[in-house]
Amino acid sequence: MPKYRAPGRVNLIGDHTDYNEGFVLPLALDLACVVDARPTEDGRIRLRSEDVPGEVDLAADGRDLASSEGWGRYAAGVAKVLSQRGREPVGLEGTVSSSVPVGAGLSSSAALEVALALALCDAAGFEPETLELARACQEAEQVATGVPCGIMDQLASLAGRRDHALLLDCRSLETTPIRLPPGLAVVVVHSGVARALAGSAYAERRAACEAAAARLGLRSLRHATPAQVADEPRARHVVSENARVLAAADALARGELDALGPLLSASHASLRDDFEVSTPELDALVRALEEAGALGARLTGAGFGGCAVALARAAEAEQVAAAACGTYATSTGREPQSWICAAADGAGKIDS
Ligand code: GLA
Repeated sequence: MPKYRAPGRVNLIGDHTDYNEGFVLPLALDLACVVDARPTEDGRIRLRSEDVPGEVDLAADGRDLASSEGWGRYAAGVAKVLSQRGREPVGLEGTVSSSVPVGAGLSSSAALEVALALALCDAAGFEPETLELARACQEAEQVATGVPCGIMDQLASLAGRRDHALLLDCRSLETTPIRLPPGLAVVVVHSGVARALAGSAYAERRAACEAAAARLGLRSLRHATPAQVADEPRARHVVSENARVLAAADALARGELDALGPLLSASHASLRDDFEVSTPELDALVRALEEAGALGARLTGAGFGGCAVALARAAEAEQVAAAACGTYATSTGREPQSWICAAADGAGKIDS
């Protein structure tokens, strides 16, 4: 059976900027979702997960979205948005498995959406452009969860490049791969507290940003100056974070590792104090990573739980991760989990 693989992502810097037409700097992970499936004749999507019990059985045009539950909602969402874009309702039968941890802020749902979308498109001989596919999967996430997410996760999963981070301009959707210097390691640590993104906080933050842009008469906060948002913490985060992303992309491209750390740490402070999406656990984890010798660390993704990302010198990465996990576990009583991550290629069909 054909297999389709789509990676999760970790965002090095630039959070809550994508839906403000701003900049982000994610990389596709070597943790991925794999759909192993073949077309069916009966117009049904029948999928079994190798990770969680239960089976998904729904109409290939996505009309079952309202009655779908759990991960079946993502399948129904993808089927629906692709159908609206002209995909014939050809069915699919097979299995889904994923090494992307759920609720960690590493985009397990985007990986599932993109892998499923590739399988569904291939089954029906439907060939959307990469950007169109990213937009479709973003919309699938929105209809499946009700969360008005941006495009970073789905685009990173599709556009990933081995050994590279991706500078994404979320206004033009231009993608610039930036090679990760060999001496640099990306350390990801799960705080052991699952992130509940489906809550209203994400939507509330997005609405606050849009209201701030509207007050300034701007199409989005991408166009605001620091002076315009000096007294508005939410908007101030977005404007300062965009500048940090561009500075980090520049430092990465030049291999200036020492310049990266302070940018990550400033990003965390801004997400904690101005955007208010951190948690006591994430703050403790970031502190522990910095004390353990990381160049810099920050929460990654939407916040409200999930993972922190740190950059470390490659030779010290294992030691930094182990020491930080030890300190964090002792001070919070939580069970952290860490990964030294490699940047992987974006989603695609695996020849088998
Ligand atoms: C989630 C959303 C993304 C992005 C991040 C925060 O991962 O899906 O679109 O907004 O939060 O940067």
